[in-house]
Amino acid sequence: TYDSDDVGTGNGPVPDRRTTKLAVVGAGAVGATVAYAALLRGAARTVALYDISKEKVEAEALDLGHGIQFMPMAEVIGSDDIAVCADADVVVVTAGAKQKPGQTRLDLAEATISLTRKILPPLVEQAPNAIFIMVTNPVDIVTYAALKLSGLPRSQLFGSGTVLDSSRLRYLIARRTGVAVQNVHAYMAGEHGDSEFPLWDSASIGGVPLTQWRGTRDAGPMTPAVREAIARDVIESAYQIIKGKGATNYAVSLAVSRIIEAVLKDERRVLPVSSLLDDYYGISDVCLSVPTVVGRTGADRLLEVPMSADEVANLRRSAEALKAVARRFGF
Ligand code: LAC
Repeated sequence: TYDSDDVGTGNGPVPDRRTTKLAVVGAGAVGATVAYAALLRGAARTVALYDISKEKVEAEALDLGHGIQFMPMAEVIGSDDIAVCADADVVVVTAGAKQKPGQTRLDLAEATISLTRKILPPLVEQAPNAIFIMVTNPVDIVTYAALKLSGLPRSQLFGSGTVLDSSRLRYLIARRTGVAVQNVHAYMAGEHGDSEFPLWDSASIGGVPLTQWRGTRDAGPMTPAVREAIARDVIESAYQIIKGKGATNYAVSLAVSRIIEAVLKDERRVLPVSSLLDDYYGISDVCLSVPTVVGRTGADRLLEVPMSADEVANLRRSAEALKAVARRFGF
């Protein structure tokens, strides 16, 4: 305790000035937009950007810093020295090869795994207690490799997975049914890539199971054909955007910012992040996305959402495809 005479004399209790720190690795389109989205949402008090290009990372940090007046109070720092990530609470890894038009995410595996081998150990050294969120594609493979390389527990390092894809799925369902996207609950599961699939059996709109959704005057029913078309559009989304603007950055960064907030605010939010499965519907030793409780300790409990036999088969197919790629690179 201290009495009012102490106020301002420096004899009072030492306030805990430790604030939350987010480190973003990679100041490219995705990394810079992740920093921007996190700052806009007041996700962290300090946002550190790290990139090997000194000029680029300093310019991004300066440009973001000039906007602080219009955002919740924060400090932005940028450096080509990895020490800028020191003691971060969350480290988001976006550095990696860019997906070119027509390329699949798995085509990037070789380039991004060698980069992960290089940058992960020094990052863990700088921020040993951080929650690591891998975003670099192919994110499921990179997450699996990063877990093996770092030796961190499965909850402490996971991937952004199909949080973005689920947002795309909800967007398309909302447009089709004429309901606000916030009232659509549906997940994409499996690989953040071509073998992902919607969990239709557990999807709902305002409490109505999606498979029972009847069309209304101005919005169509969710027939099997419509569901198939929506699933295909979700998978094609990134290719379509990359063809048009060279990369995706807004929605993925908002999805990652949502994950960052779930961690730093201990929200225990259910998000389909990519984490190491251990006997999930009999599937183990692969990183895939299923609905997961995310809070301050990272990727916590996986929810065994009801899945049809087809959905379990799809999950198994995703797992086999990813394990084959991981094995090719020695994991
Ligand atoms: C996408 C990238 C992030 O799906 O893989 O937009």
